[in-house]
Amino acid sequence: MQKTALIIKRSGKTIGLVPTMGGLHEGHLSLLDAIRNKCDVLVASIFVNPVQFGPGEDFKRYPRDFQRDEKLLDERGCDIIFYPSDDEIYPYGFSTYVNVENLTDGLCGKSRPVHFRGVTTVVTKLFLITRCDIACFGQKDGQQAAVIKRMARDLNIPVEIVTAPIVRESDGMAMSSRNNYLSPEERKRALCLKKALDIAEHMVAEGECDTTEIIGEMRSFIELVEGAEIEYIEAVDPDDMTPKQKVDRPTMFALAVKIGKTRLIDNCIVNVN
Ligand code: PAJ
Repeated sequence: MQKTALIIKRSGKTIGLVPTMGGLHEGHLSLLDAIRNKCDVLVASIFVNPVQFGPGEDFKRYPRDFQRDEKLLDERGCDIIFYPSDDEIYPYGFSTYVNVENLTDGLCGKSRPVHFRGVTTVVTKLFLITRCDIACFGQKDGQQAAVIKRMARDLNIPVEIVTAPIVRESDGMAMSSRNNYLSPEERKRALCLKKALDIAEHMVAEGECDTTEIIGEMRSFIELVEGAEIEYIEAVDPDDMTPKQKVDRPTMFALAVKIGKTRLIDNCIVNVN
């Protein structure tokens, strides 16, 4: 990949990167569409990054089906698939990490203390390996997108970071590789994440701007759903992830809810009319 990237760059062409962990669905593929016309060569990476999973998380059972993913990427016009092994990315004695502070403390960072350090480290490596000029991330992982933008800015990484909208199933559920873990009954219950976000959107549209009130309503709604356990529901600034009391500028409502054993996240960005 490094040799190929160098040849492409020396020929004066630009490279676009879509980093993924595989288990691909329309959400991932939409990221290719978002930057296809902004680069000459489109690269997707597939790497289930061990260092962003905590102990007891789903690293071992994360979906891995390269042939299926390869077919989907081919059909969607991806030029190069970068599919490294764990040893290539983390050779023996690996000891260097990239860490973004503050933005990673709240939301998912609270329950997943090593997660973002793992994400920013591997994304830095993927940027350097692929020599990409532009890279696309999904708003589905809103905190991750903000953290990567901050990292690129702080470290003068010459990669344009594009964020693409959340792709949803027809019933509104955000697409996620982890949806495959849900039983049919759990899948129905899992809709409560999107419904809670709809409550927030509706309340803001009706003029409510106190986030404590809004979060209270979201919480009461989810608490009624059997087998749903709230990890967090928060209202934050979408750029720096600081908590917001009032919806006076764009505000991200984000939540993490466990449905049975499966941890799901979703978010929406709302603004005053
Ligand atoms: P992964 O969960 O595979 O997601 C890869 C990219 O797809 C991320 O940018 C994510 O936000 C985006 N994505 C996932 N579901 C989406 C949806 N429903 N709509 C829009 N975009 C969606 O996120 C990771 O992998 C990893 O942390 C990674 C960045 C690859 C680093 O290991």
